[in-house]
Amino acid sequence: MAKRSRRWLDEHERDVYVKASREAGYRSRASYKLLEIQEKYGILKPGHRVLDLGAAPGGWSQVAAGIVGESGLVVAVDLLEVSPIEGVTVITGDFTEPETLNDVMSVIGDAPLDLVISDMAPNLSGMKEIDQPRSAYLVELALDMARTVLRPGGALLAKCFEGSGISDLRDGFRGSFGKLNNIKPAASRDRSREIYLLGRGRK
Ligand SMILES: C[S@@+](CC[C@H](N)C(=O)[O-])C[C@H]1O[C@@H](n2cnc3c(N)ncnc32)[C@H](O)[C@@H]1O
Repeated sequence: MAKRSRRWLDEHERDVYVKASREAGYRSRASYKLLEIQEKYGILKPGHRVLDLGAAPGGWSQVAAGIVGESGLVVAVDLLEVSPIEGVTVITGDFTEPETLNDVMSVIGDAPLDLVISDMAPNLSGMKEIDQPRSAYLVELALDMARTVLRPGGALLAKCFEGSGISDLRDGFRGSFGKLNNIKPAASRDRSREIYLLGRGRK
């Protein structure tokens, strides 16, 4: 095994969030990022209608479905298959493809959503010049979707990477939402440039 993969595996096994998610039955440590954001900002409520972009393996959808309950809706989209989660409608497809957008629109119907959450990230090459624009494009698509499907007052949470283009993304959020927060959850690895933008109060 390569040294880098070995180091990643060792870190992963020692990680408190990996241990906690295994014990709690969450599919990924990412659940703890959403739980922390939920605790501070209360973006999910019982009965909410939620779209989860880049959902595999399903940690965020598990958290969302648990909070919105039977009267709510959670639609999960990913390139990869997400094995079934109670209370979650799964769409397998590439969110950059129009067919996937059509599938999403036909599942959510005419009623607006309360929240869009996007943890989408491209396969990272390690080269900023390639990864940064790919990630920014996914955030732009999530922002476009949120503008289309959110009710006034609704919210968008999206993973971004600090670097070139992020100020344009922040401007995009400010244009569509009354409030913008930049969030680095404790469960986000320190060396990662990932940051979450939360827009609340869809205009
Ligand atoms: C960090 S993972 C998401 C983890 C998830 N939030 C959880 O809690 O389990 C990022 C996901 O984004 C997905 N993704 C990346 N590009 C995508 C695209 N164009 N369309 C749909 N999903 C995409 C990847 O397949 C990957 O599963």
